[in-house]
Amino acid sequence: MKKIVILISGRGSNMEAIVRAQIPGASIAAVISNKPAASGLAFARESGLVAEAIDHTAFATREAFDAALSAAIDRHAPDLVVLAGFMRVLGDDFVRRYEGRLINIHPSLLPSFPGLHTHRKAIESGAKLHGATVHFVTPTLDCGPIVAQAAVAVRPDDTEASLAARVLEQEHVIYPQAVRWFVEDRLVVEGNRVTVRDAALPDGGWIVPLAGA
Ligand code: GRF
Repeated sequence: MKKIVILISGRGSNMEAIVRAQIPGASIAAVISNKPAASGLAFARESGLVAEAIDHTAFATREAFDAALSAAIDRHAPDLVVLAGFMRVLGDDFVRRYEGRLINIHPSLLPSFPGLHTHRKAIESGAKLHGATVHFVTPTLDCGPIVAQAAVAVRPDDTEASLAARVLEQEHVIYPQAVRWFVEDRLVVEGNRVTVRDAALPDGGWIVPLAGA
């Protein structure tokens, strides 16, 4: 059984998608939020999961918060730490501690649009495709080896909100899928490239634009 700790900051819909996927061989050891008011904590508790908050505003430095967070994570001895809408930048020491077992979802087709406001940036750029990326976390923000991506078309009448909603739908598809691959020990990382052993998809695990998206 692989133990998973999920970190959230808000609504936690990606966490919810992973929990609902009931991935065989995976157990969700805890859901931890850096915001006590995160609504995702309620879903986690209602689902019978260990749910806790470590309020980052209670710490004077990033290092002190990171240390408290990793102490809380390590109590569960997870095989995998999943960042699911976790909106704090984590320090290098934290990232190195979990290297190879720390994954994130980012709402763009990386390496396009790292950082915030990705949907606005996609619309303003004139890009025809936008999407979401699951990647291993490395010290450089939004830069680690890419596990899975889903693309959606940018429509001429899209607003930030309409585009975000379509991307989010795809996030809920690819994040549980990526976690499943990790749990099944099927991810092979070589440098920046990730392949999925025995992937049913002919392209080795990338999820390409979905019909009608
Ligand atoms: C998602 O779009 C995620 O990619 C981004 O923040 C949003 C979080 O949504 N980093 P949720 O908390 O998982 O509902």
